[in-house]
Amino acid sequence: MTASLSVPASYALHYLEEVDSTNSEALRLTTSARGEKHWVVAGRQTMGRGRRGREWTSKPGNLYASLLLYPKKSLTEAATLSFVAGVAIRQAIVDLAQPAGERINLKWPNDLLVDGKKIAGILLESSLEQGGDNPAIVIGVGVNCAHSPNDTEFPATNLASAGIDINPSELFNRIAIKFNEFYEIWMQKNGFTDIRDHWLKSAAGIGKPITVRLGDREIQGVFESLDANGQLILLESNNKKTIVTAGDVFFSRNSVPAHDNNQAS
Ligand code: BTN
Repeated sequence: MTASLSVPASYALHYLEEVDSTNSEALRLTTSARGEKHWVVAGRQTMGRGRRGREWTSKPGNLYASLLLYPKKSLTEAATLSFVAGVAIRQAIVDLAQPAGERINLKWPNDLLVDGKKIAGILLESSLEQGGDNPAIVIGVGVNCAHSPNDTEFPATNLASAGIDINPSELFNRIAIKFNEFYEIWMQKNGFTDIRDHWLKSAAGIGKPITVRLGDREIQGVFESLDANGQLILLESNNKKTIVTAGDVFFSRNSVPAHDNNQAS
């Protein structure tokens, strides 16, 4: 995998055949890497982690990568970088696999779906310790290129099974380019507004009924949009708008067709 990996000029690249977690490795780099942008890529992970403390199965064949950044923004603003990663991953797949890549949708907050099943996840972590008022942000990206778990609550699949053959190195190289392009847009004043518009164009379930699991309870309503911080705006049946900061989204049956690019159905 190493020989063919590349990143845009202002980034450093670290490749490890095996690591506990590329997010952990990127966080370890904060002791020496202040202010610089570092990509960490691994062939496999022994302790890959997902959102909400879940395990991320990390056998060879899929993409495991994390980006360490110091964006000089508040943590609230930096949290929207997961949307930058989402649109970058989707665009990378679209660029490499036409027209099949168009089947990829974005699922709030941080997932990518193909034909309604999860193919990629994003895990954003931060470290204030080394950054002071310039926190270190780590954006971890896992893409199921060749295999996927079959015991997840939200169904998962992989690009190969969906007929999209892209190897992890080729995908990484493209993601690194696209991420940099969208990051430059995001860095501009009100840059998240443009990213949010982009994200919404390929989002799954907009305008449709959804269930959001919030730890110990669930709420239902129509997925209206994202607010200025990337939080989900849910319109409940009593016409009450609820802003959801964190949770797991489940689509009602028939609310996300196999290929949903916001068309009314
Ligand atoms: C999720 O959907 O729960 C997020 C999954 C994020 C997985 C990636 S794989 C690379 C990086 N290293 C990790 O340990 N996790 C992220």
